[in-house]
Amino acid sequence: MCSIIGYSGKLISAAPLLVESLKKMEYRGYDSVGIATLNDGNILVSKGVGKVAEVDKEMDLNKLPGQIGIGHTRWATHGSVNDKNAHPHYSCSSNIAVVHNGIIENYQELKTELTRDGHTFKSQTDSEVIAHLLEKCYQESDSNVKETMMKTCQALKGSFAFVAIFENGIIAGARFDEPLIVGISDSALFLSSDVLGFLKYTDKSVFLDNGDIVIIDHNTYRIFDLNKRIVARPITQVAWELGSTEKGKYAHHTIKEIHEQSLTLLKPFQEFNDFQNFCEFIRDASNVYITGSGTSYNCGLLGKQLLSKFAKIKTEVIMSSEFQYYSDSLEPNSVVIAISQSGETADVLHSVKKAKENGAKILSIVNVPTSSLARMSDSILTLNCGPEIGVAATKSFMGQLMLIYKIVNILSSGQMPFDKFNQRNLLMMVKKVLNSDGIIQNLVSSLDTNIKDIYILGRSIHYPIALEGSLKIKELAYIHAEGIAAGELKHGPLALIDKESVVVVLNPTDETYQDVISSSNEIKSRGAYIIGISNKKNEVYDRFVELPDVDSYLYPILEIIPLQLMSYYLALKKQVDPDYPRNLAKSVTVK
Ligand code: F6R
Repeated sequence: MCSIIGYSGKLISAAPLLVESLKKMEYRGYDSVGIATLNDGNILVSKGVGKVAEVDKEMDLNKLPGQIGIGHTRWATHGSVNDKNAHPHYSCSSNIAVVHNGIIENYQELKTELTRDGHTFKSQTDSEVIAHLLEKCYQESDSNVKETMMKTCQALKGSFAFVAIFENGIIAGARFDEPLIVGISDSALFLSSDVLGFLKYTDKSVFLDNGDIVIIDHNTYRIFDLNKRIVARPITQVAWELGSTEKGKYAHHTIKEIHEQSLTLLKPFQEFNDFQNFCEFIRDASNVYITGSGTSYNCGLLGKQLLSKFAKIKTEVIMSSEFQYYSDSLEPNSVVIAISQSGETADVLHSVKKAKENGAKILSIVNVPTSSLARMSDSILTLNCGPEIGVAATKSFMGQLMLIYKIVNILSSGQMPFDKFNQRNLLMMVKKVLNSDGIIQNLVSSLDTNIKDIYILGRSIHYPIALEGSLKIKELAYIHAEGIAAGELKHGPLALIDKESVVVVLNPTDETYQDVISSSNEIKSRGAYIIGISNKKNEVYDRFVELPDVDSYLYPILEIIPLQLMSYYLALKKQVDPDYPRNLAKSVTVK
């Protein structure tokens, strides 16, 4: 979602650095771009609608002079997508400019008040109130930036992070439920919503806490709480995130990340992950909840089945956007396992906050160990799969599955084997399935370009994968896709099936095999085209994607790969960008 970058330094001039940083954070999703720099005491703003490269080309963003600046990519929430609503926003006298992420809940009342005081608004955004409020407080405090920031933050309600540039060369930021990180190098200081914003220059970071206000005065920074007290925050090194964000030999990040799964599969199994500590919390709990959004939720659904089947532990999986309606009734001694690639998803953070308030212990499975979710947790496990740039989750889903399998292995006291030997064998099988790339590409090219609906059927542990596969097809190829528990067909969905339908069946030879073959025959007799994903061929399939033989509980890990590949090639067939699906953002930091 929106990205923020602030820079004060001597490395290079501000504008090209800001433009480059915004490009690094493009994967988060956005619709417009802007930067502001300070030159001879004047704040210069340039902004527009479109991709960073397009706006830069059109408006010469990178030519704005100055060594201090702020930048932003906007994902519209309040007000349509147009130049005026793009950030940065000026105060009336242009002595301050602001970029903002999140939502200011009381912006209407603040806007009315400020308008009454004579301020003129140029945009329809909630963000612009911050610029005018800062201006008012700056005037009232005799140009004292610290006082100005305190008073402004005290007046704002909502979840937000913002960075402001002042005419006197100070940049200041505030973090209230939205990420904001300080980057520290010898000759520059940065403020960003994502470490990727400054990683090219430094891996030394300070992760601000909620309620922190930071003031960067040229080459020094100070952090305050809302009571004006200086607070000390540790400097962290974010080494793993230095991983490549380039596409290498691949056409898109998404296909690169699908293939990278063979490299990242075993990355979670390193010393920094204290599985025993994590599992102890689950063992000690009276009730276990799992929460997450989208792909992470689908991983939770598989976790529930495996925990029940092998470890005899009952869990409730609640999607994070719904969790708030349950959290008041959490029983004492509950544990919530929150799954989130980014660790910044607003729905997840909100669920966890409420669960914590109700006394639950929080365990999290994240890719970003320094994320807000990780910092709110009693115990964390990390995927360690490097930055995922494609908006659709692929390698992170694989990492989440690995962690879930290990947890089940421990909690089932080995009833579900998943030791180093199994893992290495699994890695070979994953590589084998990734080698079917050409087969899937060929399969997709034989499908009609105008497919309207794709159904994916699976039973038991294959059902969460059917849901995940359909999510991938929807977001990457913009085709309506639905994951269906195969046994539910006769209870309704069968009415949809006709000779236009494409149905994928997840059908390895386990206890679900025969029932899924029966469903496939019912579908076939209604004229649908059937793609079987299995370790065993059957004549009911029109096309067959072969999986290698593995222990039956491991099939979900293999069968998601052909579905990811299928989604990617369907996107190419439809000539849409698989890396940046329309209307979607990588990190959904607003509710
Ligand atoms: C799907 C996808 C989204 C995310 C969801 C949660 O491909 O990427 O559905 O899974 O927005 O994101 P995280 O895991 O970062 O909380």
